[in-house]
Amino acid sequence: MGSGMGIGVIWLVVALLDKIHVFSFPTPTQRLFSLETRKNDRGLCEVTSLASAERQMLVFPGHKLGSVQLVDLSCTEISMSSAPIWIAAHKSELGCLALNQQGTRLATASNKGTLIRVWDTASKHLLVELRRGSDPATVYCINFSRDSDYICCSSDKGTVHIFAIKNTNLNKRMALPSGGILGKYGESQWALTNFTVPPECACICAFGSNSSIIALCLDGTFHKYVFNSEGICNREAFDVYLDVCDDDDDLQ
Ligand SMILES: *[C@@H]1O[C@H](CO)[C@@H](O)[C@H](O)[C@H]1NC(C)=O
Ligand SMILES: *[C@@H]1O[C@H](CO)[C@@H](O)[C@H](O)[C@H]1NC(C)=O
Ligand SMILES: *[C@@H]1O[C@H](CO)[C@@H](O)[C@H](O)[C@H]1NC(C)=O
Repeated sequence: MGSGMGIGVIWLVVALLDKIHVFSFPTPTQRLFSLETRKNDRGLCEVTSLASAERQMLVFPGHKLGSVQLVDLSCTEISMSSAPIWIAAHKSELGCLALNQQGTRLATASNKGTLIRVWDTASKHLLVELRRGSDPATVYCINFSRDSDYICCSSDKGTVHIFAIKNTNLNKRMALPSGGILGKYGESQWALTNFTVPPECACICAFGSNSSIIALCLDGTFHKYVFNSEGICNREAFDVYLDVCDDDDDLQ
């Protein structure tokens, strides 16, 4: 479930296994339209979060394997009557989706989790392909920085990666066969920098002010780092925000 905002409009979006319902919210709470999706176990669905965004987008898995369907919520009547707009993002099932605050960029990962692709939501062109790693991984979260200069990505490998998406020269390069759609022998772009979090523990990542980046993990840990364009990444804070002792202990 997610919500998005337009000028004077708030949308409430509910993702079911094979359907997405879009409601106006809060008053009147009315169903505006419903769309059929591919089987969407993870409830993948993202909406532009900024009321003043350039484009009010809704993105979710399309009908074709690895595809993303894009709906421009500011012109829903058009999108309802015309053919769906979609991007063939990956060759396998989608694993994670993210929109930037302006609704102009879409980042995608498949359930293999090795590559992250960043797309222009207007032209539907691939802007950059980034390599998270060479081993398969479950991607938990992708998030854009406010200015869309960077994205972060957390996965079950216990690493949060930070990639530059505007000045992509900042990313590390390795002449490994990328296997991506930019060409088999193209140079892969690897993360600018990274930091570690508990492995196999779901974490969300987000950018804060002053080049800070935080990760919040299901085990109750909070991680804050500050990074720069040279790829230096230093820990600034660590905390445990949940008392994660078991209920049984309390009874003894
Ligand atoms: C994390 O960053 C360090 C320092 O730049 C680098 O040596 C290491 O290979 C990176 N690890 C991963 C998993 O990307
Ligand atoms: C992305 O980061 C923003 C803050 O920049 C935060 O409000 C939002 O919840 C994050 N999204 C996810 C999926 O963690
Ligand atoms: C960001 O950095 C500026 C200048 O160093 C400082 O005044 C401000 O308090 C910092 N903001 C946060 C949220 O740390």
